[in-house]
Amino acid sequence: MLPNLNKSLLDFCFDSLNSSKALDGWKKLYVGVDLGTTNIVVVVLNERGIPIATSMTSSAETIRDGVVVDYWRAIQEVKNNIQVICSKLDISFDEFSAFAVGAAAYPPGVHPKTAQVCANVVEAIGIPCMGLYEEPVAAANAIDLRDGVLVDIGGGTTGIAVLEGGELVYSADEPTGGTHMTLVISGRLGIPFEEAEMMKRDRSKHRSLKPMLIPVLEKMATIVKKHLSKISWHFNAPIFLVGGGADIEGAEGIFTSVIGYPVKLAKHCLLVTPLGIALTLWREQEKQGRKEIASAG
Ligand SMILES: Nc1ncnc2c1ncn2[C@@H]1O[C@H](COP(=O)(O)OP(=O)(O)OP(=O)(O)O)[C@@H](O)[C@H]1O
Ligand SMILES: [Mg+2]
Repeated sequence: MLPNLNKSLLDFCFDSLNSSKALDGWKKLYVGVDLGTTNIVVVVLNERGIPIATSMTSSAETIRDGVVVDYWRAIQEVKNNIQVICSKLDISFDEFSAFAVGAAAYPPGVHPKTAQVCANVVEAIGIPCMGLYEEPVAAANAIDLRDGVLVDIGGGTTGIAVLEGGELVYSADEPTGGTHMTLVISGRLGIPFEEAEMMKRDRSKHRSLKPMLIPVLEKMATIVKKHLSKISWHFNAPIFLVGGGADIEGAEGIFTSVIGYPVKLAKHCLLVTPLGIALTLWREQEKQGRKEIASAG
């Protein structure tokens, strides 16, 4: 199947999550594994860098604040995702592992040994882990951002990252995120957390939830503004919202008015970091491949 080139890689990633079949043919597989506090997402690109299969499951409390707290169950969750991917590609796990290389990512500021655990999870499923990236650096690659601010609203935490020339120059992590919003809905409506979570994920409900969510989003934006003023950020580069927690109607407007500078919500915001991990791996491996061909010639 040939891709429609008017679509972005994030559109393909979204389509590949919802499709039961691979979106394109493949000779090699580049596997990005995002171990999030709420969601574990696996994105697979082919040798052309096109997302062809994606799978997502709940982290089921195996990860806390981006750190693996239940190693064995985290591996099982990633394996569950790989099984879904294999069925989309219509291959066995042995075939998958023969053609796949993987990569993982970690939140900035964690101890190198803690970051290494994310790579170990990839290796434990039986594929070589060839890349281990800081989450915002990977996310920035997915939206081609070299200079700017990324606000990653995840489940448990919100990451603030400033990039210059593709390098991370400032990062912070705050204990607020999508779960915080779900708890507010649950408390205000007197409904179980799971029911509140389902309501929050349904965009048609966002208008009625707005009065509850505006104060939470304003608080988040105020926290981000504080960080940016601390580093005398001069607002000449874009600010993007990424992460599944940002997927709330009107979030970018609230951030824009609190920060006083245009804030954009990335398309398919939940998939930005997972796609970025696979894409960074693919770019590095392609570059390496070209170097090897050049030196052999
Ligand atoms: N369709 C969806 N599926 C899963 N989560 C969703 C969906 N839509 C919105 N969300 C929200 O996305 C949030 C999690 O976002 P994301 O997957 O980016 O976080 P994470 O990477 O797991 O967490 P963190 O970055 O904090 O470690 C949750 O609060 C969840 O409610
Ligand atoms: Mg995340």
